[in-house]
Amino acid sequence: MNLSKRTAVIATATCAAAMAGGYALGGANLAAYALLSSVLTLAVAKLWRQIDRAQREQTAARAAIEERIATLSKRVSQVRKDQETGLRELSAQVDRTRNRIRQVPADTRRLMAEDDRTGELVRRLDDVAGKVEDLPKQTRLLVREWSRIVYSELEDLTALYRDIEPDRALPELHGWATGADLARFIYQQVAVHGRSNVLECGSGSTTVVLAYAMRARGGGRVTSLEHEPRFAEATRAMLRERGLGEWAEVVDAPLTDVKLGEDVCRWYDTAHLPDGPIDLLLVDGPPASVGPGARYPALPLLADRLSEDATVLLDDTRRPDERAIGERWASEFGEFELTSLPHDHGTMLLTRRTRPSGT
Ligand SMILES: C[S@@+](CC[C@H](N)C(=O)[O-])C[C@H]1O[C@@H](n2cnc3c(N)ncnc32)[C@H](O)[C@@H]1O
Repeated sequence: MNLSKRTAVIATATCAAAMAGGYALGGANLAAYALLSSVLTLAVAKLWRQIDRAQREQTAARAAIEERIATLSKRVSQVRKDQETGLRELSAQVDRTRNRIRQVPADTRRLMAEDDRTGELVRRLDDVAGKVEDLPKQTRLLVREWSRIVYSELEDLTALYRDIEPDRALPELHGWATGADLARFIYQQVAVHGRSNVLECGSGSTTVVLAYAMRARGGGRVTSLEHEPRFAEATRAMLRERGLGEWAEVVDAPLTDVKLGEDVCRWYDTAHLPDGPIDLLLVDGPPASVGPGARYPALPLLADRLSEDATVLLDDTRRPDERAIGERWASEFGEFELTSLPHDHGTMLLTRRTRPSGT
């Protein structure tokens, strides 16, 4: 007998015993009262168990994040130590070489400086010495920038947990998936700004976040194009586990030859696009491995399916290829205005320019 059957038997037996006891002591009214009390007690006990489970899962998720932060800060300390050692060795080497040059008799040094090649070598050595001296400052700036990114990612992740209040941990928001910054941005696009017909290129954690947003908004739908059947299934499973199936659909959309003017490119099969004007288009696929400009076809193919006030988001624009795609869209589609968002992976946002009234 599994646990839920056993629980059902115990619950039924408890209710029956309460009812029988009540009947024996005070007739039908007391029996009904005893039955009602035991049903309520059992319902409260069930609710309490659910809350307890959700709290345990949230605690586990928090512990996992804290562990990651601890590992990251250990790595930062190690990198800092390694850099300091490397820097000391480099400085010592530069000093040794400079001392050796100083030991060369003055006359020879003058002759060396007059010789173009040795003069150039001495200048390069001075240049290297200057750069070595600059390294600690550059490292400090890099560490500061990196801490800023980690801090704001944590801030966005915490805010997402607070907004969604999920009853289990959110799917991963790093590595292959988009960062917490863009995840929070798309959540707000739906839950706060009311986007309701979302098309996503490339499924995964964002599909789950968008589905949560639709549920919070109480309407709308996400359609997610996915070319890899195993990842389509993985995303569907994440939605199912969270009871979000009705808010998002993952469409199997294999990459196929698509005509774009005179050119033919590999892009998602467009047989199953959502009905009606799309008001949020998130372009986070196909992956770069498909070839340069893999995400470019999205706007030329879908521009006439977008609503007047649609938002287009292109992820990963810290990479030169994706940045070039965003800039090419902006130059080819003059009605769109391009803004760069300072997200960890880089995001470009395109919205139609507001037209002067009467035009
Ligand atoms: C840049 S990723 C982004 C996917 C999604 N928009 C997100 O941010 O969560 C693009 C591709 O990753 C792949 N993917 C989806 N789920 C994955 C998983 N669990 N592990 C690794 N790759 C996955 C899919 O093929 C997807 O099209």
